[in-house]
Amino acid sequence: MLDVKSLTKRFGSNAAVDNVSFTIDRPMMIGIIGRSGAGKSTFLRIMNRLTDASDGELCFEGRNVLTLTGKDKRDWQSDCAMIFQQFNLVPRMDVVSNVLHGTLGRHSTLTTMFNLYPEAEIHKAIDILDRLGIAEHAAKRAEALSGGQQQRVAIARALMQDPKVILADEPIASLDPMNAQTVMEALRRIHDEDGRMVIANLHTLDTARRYCDRIIGMRDGRVVFDGTPEQLTTGVARDIYGAGADFSEAATSTEIRDHDAVVTEEIRAAEVAL
Ligand SMILES: Nc1ncnc2c1ncn2[C@@H]1O[C@H](COP(=O)(O)OP(=O)(O)OP(=O)(O)O)[C@@H](O)[C@H]1O
Ligand SMILES: [Mg+2]
Repeated sequence: MLDVKSLTKRFGSNAAVDNVSFTIDRPMMIGIIGRSGAGKSTFLRIMNRLTDASDGELCFEGRNVLTLTGKDKRDWQSDCAMIFQQFNLVPRMDVVSNVLHGTLGRHSTLTTMFNLYPEAEIHKAIDILDRLGIAEHAAKRAEALSGGQQQRVAIARALMQDPKVILADEPIASLDPMNAQTVMEALRRIHDEDGRMVIANLHTLDTARRYCDRIIGMRDGRVVFDGTPEQLTTGVARDIYGAGADFSEAATSTEIRDHDAVVTEEIRAAEVAL
């Protein structure tokens, strides 16, 4: 179903993704873990065609999606919806309009400017919100919702595209444990009930173990672990994170997070500068 072959992405002399290969034969829920700078976000960005690979192939259902252009490329991007740590909603716009934004590619600018969405789509948006337990907030501004609710709005927006794959880049990194749990449960349910593949970059090992069928560990751009939650022992985790004998699993959540936020900022700044 998903066949990644010798995928490489270089930034100058640095290989952010370094000769990555793996195969997923059914729509699983996959967690990608690894310390900051391991290449997790770059991998998702390549898959969604937000950035081009330097080498290799990424075949989905037998087709190398990295060579698609024009409409085929846009269709693929719509087939694999992205969810981000910071939700990327329009804060002052109401929830249902934010969700309808998931159909943006299909409508004219005028339609979206004046919020003239077909009634059927508005119903679909509300049904999806209902499924995620947040229909009662449909008319509120996105900014009035809690982080966990906003992330579920972002998931609803992704579902409007009816994607085959959901790519989530640290979907719970900005959330408190309760909200994090609701969002992970929502992703898991979408996977279980709809059979959609979910690939999530995750920071905490316990989350990856609890919700994912398969875990891929990356270190310095390479895949250093690929297995089931049971196979991801503390020793293996230590290797993935490149930590010493004093490695503690707790360190994979909050402590590393602070450093990551800085790195993410730096990357954003570098991207703007380019
Ligand atoms: N646009 C860019 N230009 C230059 N280098 C980049 C760019 N994007 C990423 N990198 C580099 O590629 C490597 C992998 O970055 P990536 O963002 O994929 O890591 P990550 O595993 O997602 O880390 P984090 O956990 O901090 O989000 C890092 O060394 C980073 O500095
Ligand atoms: Mg990242």
